[in-house]
Amino acid sequence: MTVRICPSVLNADQNNLAQEIERVKEVADFIHLDIMDDKFVPNFTYSFEQTRKIVKQSLLPIDLHLMVNEADYWGPQYATLKSNGVFSVTVHFEATKDLSQTISLIKAEGVRCGVAIKPATPVAVVKEILDKVDMVLVMTVEPGFGGQSFMSEMMSKVQTLRSWIDDKDVAHTWLQVDGGIALATIDEASASGADTFVAGSAVYKSENPAGIVEELRKRALASRR
Ligand code: DX5
Ligand code: ZN
Repeated sequence: MTVRICPSVLNADQNNLAQEIERVKEVADFIHLDIMDDKFVPNFTYSFEQTRKIVKQSLLPIDLHLMVNEADYWGPQYATLKSNGVFSVTVHFEATKDLSQTISLIKAEGVRCGVAIKPATPVAVVKEILDKVDMVLVMTVEPGFGGQSFMSEMMSKVQTLRSWIDDKDVAHTWLQVDGGIALATIDEASASGADTFVAGSAVYKSENPAGIVEELRKRALASRR
């Protein structure tokens, strides 16, 4: 199993995002960019146009996490930023009406498609789409803000998904966790079966972001199942 580390720049210096991204460019796999609309979550980050500029300047491919309403519309829209450097677009299950069609439209743009579930959403809702989707994101905090505590109780969802993914032989489906991932929590998430890790404050509140990314990867590899 490969381990992927995706630093989230939500709590990085917003006035120097390109430089913040550059600090981890040798060691991170992707940059995780959180798009919030102040409706799906009580916080706002970037407009579509601002996102396009950030993506364009980034030295690493972008893993977009859409925390917005009307994801059936916005998912495929953001997927058109592939030529600017978007690698994957993740929509929230709770914000879609026609998930299967939205997955198809996103993939039709040539980007990978992820589906995220909030802490209160049961894992069963993604069972039937596991072979259509490229990644499932299990939120390990309530979406909206960085710096919250990791919710260990979400690990049963990760374990269930890992067993479904392995059973169905859909090994191409990545299993991502987002929220509270740090040196103290990544072992548990990796041991539960996650392979793709978002870390925001752990990376950018540190004096040495690249060093933390390397250490996170080391720990995830050491405790993977
Ligand atoms: C929260 C975002 C996360 C956030 C994680 O809604 O989706 O990506 O940046 O931040 P930390 O790692 O600080 O929990
Ligand atoms: Zn996120």
